[in-house]
Amino acid sequence: MVDIAELQTFEHDVVVIGAGGAGLRAAIECSRRGLNTAIVCKSLLGKAHTVMAEGGMAAALGNVDPRDNWKIHFRDTMRGGKFLNQWRMAELHAKEAPARVNELEEWGAVFDRAKNGLISQRNFGGHRYPRLAHVGDRTGLEMIRTLQDYGIHQGFAVHMECTALDLLKDGERIAGVVAYWRENGRFLLLKTKAVILATGGAGKAWKVTSNSWEYTGDGLAMAYLAGATLMDMEFVQFHPTGMVWPPSVRGTLVTEGVRGDGGILLNNKHERFMFNYIPERFAPETASTEDEARRWLQGDKEARRPPELLTRDVVARAITSEVKAGRGSPHGGVFLDIASQVPADMIKKKLPSMYHQFKELANVDITKEAMEVGPTTHYFMGGVQVDHESQQSVVPGLFACGECAAGLHGANRLGGNSLSDLLVFGRRAGLGAADYVASMASFPCIDEAQVRQSMRRATDILNRESGANPYLVHEALQKVMNDGVGIVRSEADLTAALAGLEHVKRDVERVKADGASQYNPGWHAALDLRNLLIVSEAVARAALMRQESRGGHSRVDHPNEEEVWGEYHIVIHQGRNGMDVEKVRRAEPPRELAAIAYATLESLEGSNG
Ligand code: FUM
Repeated sequence: MVDIAELQTFEHDVVVIGAGGAGLRAAIECSRRGLNTAIVCKSLLGKAHTVMAEGGMAAALGNVDPRDNWKIHFRDTMRGGKFLNQWRMAELHAKEAPARVNELEEWGAVFDRAKNGLISQRNFGGHRYPRLAHVGDRTGLEMIRTLQDYGIHQGFAVHMECTALDLLKDGERIAGVVAYWRENGRFLLLKTKAVILATGGAGKAWKVTSNSWEYTGDGLAMAYLAGATLMDMEFVQFHPTGMVWPPSVRGTLVTEGVRGDGGILLNNKHERFMFNYIPERFAPETASTEDEARRWLQGDKEARRPPELLTRDVVARAITSEVKAGRGSPHGGVFLDIASQVPADMIKKKLPSMYHQFKELANVDITKEAMEVGPTTHYFMGGVQVDHESQQSVVPGLFACGECAAGLHGANRLGGNSLSDLLVFGRRAGLGAADYVASMASFPCIDEAQVRQSMRRATDILNRESGANPYLVHEALQKVMNDGVGIVRSEADLTAALAGLEHVKRDVERVKADGASQYNPGWHAALDLRNLLIVSEAVARAALMRQESRGGHSRVDHPNEEEVWGEYHIVIHQGRNGMDVEKVRRAEPPRELAAIAYATLESLEGSNG
């Protein structure tokens, strides 16, 4: 093994792991505060799941409907999250999102414009008013481009195609990161005062997902192993509309913008089935007839919103029910039809990526035909438990933001709230880390034994004589999660899934990659397995404990939302003998915020104070 003295070593005040919107925004803030900052990214800079938030970023700018304001955004977010959201985070998010969008524009983002010349905003599920500032259906991409261009001039270092393996600690506090270059397999040591995790979720634990190969829960698992707590892990979002055909692209995202711009969902009987799935809570604000939904599309501000724009948890479950009842499309989804609702030139203008995606990948012209779509694993509402002001975890010096942090979205995220989340809390994590670093007199010490242990774990995979094939182990894990921890769960299925994960664990412990460490994708896949396994177990254990259905967590054996469970988060940490799972009472909201969350719409319109 490499001598530690010879290990390639870097020293930074702050290391940000992950280069999506949250990581970039955090790194910008640290650099602006004069800190020596580095970003570590598993892939190439700019390649992040952020680009999969296609339809826009939610911010109550009120450009298209002046009745909108932060209070209604806050209320929508809480209702969408089934009131399990961390109140203060939802408040900060709703209040600060407009400033972050405007700042992004100042930094060069070219948003679509409304007729009045202001940034245009589109409708999305669960948002009362047109609220998503967008760039066609490529908003996430434009956001990454802007942050990258702006950020690179702030002077942070970028360690690209570099995977973080483990966090190092000096006593209780963070001291560094062990990582390796994917290209040549060499290890590196990053000494640092603070780490900001911005690694996203772990969609790759499921077979059908909108996530790409990088999303293996690295930050979540590293944080857990370093002593941080994970929260709300049972809440995984299945985006209602992924492609279902052809098989090679199953799971690829079909933006909610299609429904926001007028697309409707149909079953194989040509019925607009979402009218049959309107939950009581949302009934007063949802159109109950096709006629009313049509009036809404034609711009009637008094008409209520179509049921296709209910929250994602509701729409995804409705699609699953239709397919189960035999009313699905030929390839196991339902139909998403915008062709019959919106003129072809508008479709091409507002949804250019969707037009090309279907044309090129499925040979479907969405201006003429309906798309076949079905739920796809998209997003983790749960993640590292953080302080709501600074984004610091319980481990001093360890921060998390974006998808890998818990709190803002509660039991279900509203579409478009992710991009604004990345900006609001990426900035806050940067500020939190900068304050923490300022309070430190010296660099923490590196414990060489920890470095050696991390490198040994990685090289053992190459050095053992024989063992399980990493790709087959990954497939087995995905099957367990698909079968037992999917969109609808039960005690029996979850118990079976946990038993299945025990088998997978044994294989992960003796996984073997052939060949050397240079250019070795099998080794990379094997290294990801530990993280996927930890995250999968956390999701399954939390899902088993929560005996109710709420947001993204649906139990056939406990089909209702139970008031008593609304009082608790499920929190996970590493115990002496494995994973400890606990019910923890959530903090009561301040009275003023509770009043806003439960207020009627009319009482909030036009009151931005
Ligand atoms: O459907 C979408 O464009 C995804 C947006 C999001 O996840 O926020």
